[in-house]
Amino acid sequence: MTAGLTDGVTWHPPSDDASPARVTRLFTASFGGDPAGVWSAPGRVNLIGEHVDYAGGVCLPFALPQRTWAAVRPRSDGQLRVVSGQLDEPWSGPADEVRPGHPAGWAAYLAGTAWALDAAGLLGRHAFGGVDVAVHSEVPVGAGLSSSAALECALGVALLDLFGGGAGQPGSPAREGLARAGVRAENEIALASTGGMDQAIAVHAEAGRCMRLDCHTFEVVQLPLRLSGVDAATGLTLVVVNTNAPHRLVDSEYADRRAAVERATALLGVPALGMLDSVEAAWAGLAEAGERDPVLRKRVRHVITESARARAAAELLAADRVAELGPLLDASHTSLRDDYALSCPELESAVEAAKLAGALGARLVGGGFGGSIIALVTSSTVPAVVTEVRAAAAKRGLTEPSFLIAEPSSAAGRW
Ligand code: GLA
Repeated sequence: MTAGLTDGVTWHPPSDDASPARVTRLFTASFGGDPAGVWSAPGRVNLIGEHVDYAGGVCLPFALPQRTWAAVRPRSDGQLRVVSGQLDEPWSGPADEVRPGHPAGWAAYLAGTAWALDAAGLLGRHAFGGVDVAVHSEVPVGAGLSSSAALECALGVALLDLFGGGAGQPGSPAREGLARAGVRAENEIALASTGGMDQAIAVHAEAGRCMRLDCHTFEVVQLPLRLSGVDAATGLTLVVVNTNAPHRLVDSEYADRRAAVERATALLGVPALGMLDSVEAAWAGLAEAGERDPVLRKRVRHVITESARARAAAELLAADRVAELGPLLDASHTSLRDDYALSCPELESAVEAAKLAGALGARLVGGGFGGSIIALVTSSTVPAVVTEVRAAAAKRGLTEPSFLIAEPSSAAGRW
C-alpha cells in the first residue's frame, strides 16, 4: 500500500506477520534448538508533552505499529547471550557481571533489564539462571522512536512470564515494575539519563488510544485517538518522518536539559516543574532566589508551557477533536526549537516542508538533535507532504528521510 504512494519513498512497514518466524529462525541459527516463546514490544511516538517526563509534567505517548520481537529461552548457568538481526555484535557474559557501562552498546538495554528486574525481586529469588535471546527490530533504530525501550520491554515481559509471576495486562503491578526496571537499565547500565515515558507506554499502551501520563502523580488515562491509515480518502493521518540525521550530542544535551530542570526545581522549592501553571510566577521565584540566567528561564518556560499544551491536547482528544491539535503541535515545535534548543537543520527542513504542503501541525519528537518529526495531515494530503519533505531535504543536500504512518497500537506481550 504505502510502497506505491510515491516512487522511491522509503517506508518503515508496520508489524509483519513474518517477524515471529524470522526471530525464531535467528534464534535457532544462533543458539540451536527452539526458543521457549516469542514476545514483542512496540516503539512509540509522543503526540505532545516533549521533554517534560523528567520534570513531572504531562505527556501523551502512544505505541507504534512497529515492534521489536524477542525469542527467548531460559538457561541455568547464569549466562546471558544476546543476538540481534539489526544491531552489531552479539554479546554474552555472566548475568552477575552486569554493571554501569557493562555491557556497552545495545546489549546494555537487554542485560540491564534482566539485572534490574532481578534486583527488584521480580524474577524469583533463586530461579533466574540466565537466558538466550534473539531480537528482531521493526522499530527504526536511532530515529527517536524508542527502539531501546522496545528492546527492554520485549525481553522484560518474556522474563516476567518465564521467571516471575507473569507480565499481566496493561496497568498491572508487574508491568509497573518492568517500566521501572527499564528506566534503571537505561539510567544505571546504559548510562542514558532518560525519563520514563518510553517504558511506560511500551508496557501500558492500548490499541486505538493515546496515553495521558502525568509524570508527577503517575496517573494514566487512556484517551481515544482516531487516525486513518495512509490509504484513507478522508480523515486524519499522523505521518512520522524519520530524518535519518545522525543524533548529534544527544546524550550530553539531554543530560544538560535534565540538570537545568533539576536546578530550577530545587531553586523554586517545588515538587515538580511540570505541575506549575504560571511561567511568570516561576520566573519571579527564580529571581527571588537570585537566579537570572536567561537560558534557565527559557528551559523553565518550555517545561511549563509544554505541559499546559499536553493538558490542552488531552482535553481535545477526550472530546474527539483531533483536527484541532495542529496549533498545539506547532507551538510545541517552536518551544522545543527556541526555548529548549533541540532542533537541527534536518528537523527544521522536515517541519517547514510538511507545513508548506498543508500539514495541520508538525513538530520534532523524542530527544531531538536528529531523529523524527510528526505531522498531522488530512489523509488526502499525505502524498503532497511526503513529496514536499523529500524534495526539501534533497534541495538542502540533507540525508534522504524515510516515513511511517503512526496508528495507536498495543502494548508489549507474548506473541
Ligand atoms: C527521550 C527519553 C524520554 C523523554 C523524551 C523527550 O525519548 O527517553 O524519557 O524524555 O526523550 O520527551
